[in-house]
Amino acid sequence: MAEYILARGNGRHIPHEDKIFGISNRAKAMIAEKGADKVINATIGSLLDDNGNLVVLSSVDEVFKHLSPAEYADYAPIGGIKPFREAVQQAAFGSHRPKGYVEAVATPGGTGSLRNVIANYSDGGDQVLTSDWHWAPYNTIAGEIGRSIATFEFFTENGKFNIDSFQKKSAELLAKQESLVIILNTPAHNPTGYSLTLEDWDHVIAVLQEEAKCGKAIALVIDAAYIDFAGDEEEYRRFLPKLEALPENVLPIMAYSLSKTYTLYGTRCGAMICIAKTKEIADEFKRVCEYSSRGSWSNSAKVAQVILSRIYGEPGLLERVDKERAHYREMLIKRGRAFEEEAKKVGLKIVPFDAGFFISIPCSDPDAISAKLEKEGVFIVPLAKGLRVSVASISEDKCRKLPAIIKAAMEE
Ligand SMILES: Cc1ncc(COP(=O)(O)O)c(C=O)c1O
Repeated sequence: MAEYILARGNGRHIPHEDKIFGISNRAKAMIAEKGADKVINATIGSLLDDNGNLVVLSSVDEVFKHLSPAEYADYAPIGGIKPFREAVQQAAFGSHRPKGYVEAVATPGGTGSLRNVIANYSDGGDQVLTSDWHWAPYNTIAGEIGRSIATFEFFTENGKFNIDSFQKKSAELLAKQESLVIILNTPAHNPTGYSLTLEDWDHVIAVLQEEAKCGKAIALVIDAAYIDFAGDEEEYRRFLPKLEALPENVLPIMAYSLSKTYTLYGTRCGAMICIAKTKEIADEFKRVCEYSSRGSWSNSAKVAQVILSRIYGEPGLLERVDKERAHYREMLIKRGRAFEEEAKKVGLKIVPFDAGFFISIPCSDPDAISAKLEKEGVFIVPLAKGLRVSVASISEDKCRKLPAIIKAAMEE
């Protein structure tokens, strides 16, 4: 089968299938044929329990089941219902709310936020900057609206955040375009599990203070899709007040998602939240993003907006949700540690990992190795620079077994 389909309307080459969903479908087919115990499906980006069932927070589920029809079926205003716009700021910032003019606009998941930022804070033909290890859909989202992705090297040879590469690439792009969108996916980055340290953040801020002297508009997107699975929720929000030191022409925007944090993946709910230096910039952000939403998906689904508003509006409920999530986060962190430990034992090199849904293994021929592993019933995702293992979707036991299997496939 050809790898691409030619879109008749405009001659675009569209991949035959979404890579990750394609592999996952093959894994499911093998499970149906040979049984779950013969297969390790480490491709899925949702949190599964040790039996392979989707984890849905029961506290969230309870709220869902008590909604009235109007609460789940009605249209929401384009930018989101008022209580949601307030609750989502609390959810995103916790007790580390940065000072500034904040506006939140509802979006269909974090994906909607990313799409809207790129559409409104970059120009047609521009390049959007992110790290070389990154979530592949960034390319699709940018490409769909006539932009593309440029990358800086995420890590130095010693496994530290590569601030020099970040600076060089930012300067290079600012020299040739009138504006720049930068996406930093942290904490618990997909696909590596890396979280920028507070020191990394100091360096990022210093670089942007310097680069912004050119006067051009920079949008700094913090893709926080995994922020509540990195470790202690408050600890991983401590970087937020640092954003206050950015100059007026750098606009920090958090792309916040309810998909993982509230296990509401399919309800398509998130928000783009700006922290602006002036009211004028914040007002413009709100109007421009709402306008853009209207012309792409219109309004976002109401159901999860109501759920989040309820969680933040009912005493005790938020505590229950946080407690339940903490239990699953612990499960996830244990899986990550188990993989890391075994990788160390068998000498399998991994990309710097802190926490989160994924771990990455650098290698030179990811497609060949993953094809080889598929034959053995091990399904992982080949990326440009290595292999991605979803520890979110396999048990701790399987996390312990996997490093030796991958190492053997790499050495064959
Ligand atoms: C890095 C990253 N950013 C953003 C998202 C957005 O997710 P959603 O649109 O489901 O909220 C995801 C989801 O997998 C992701 O991995």
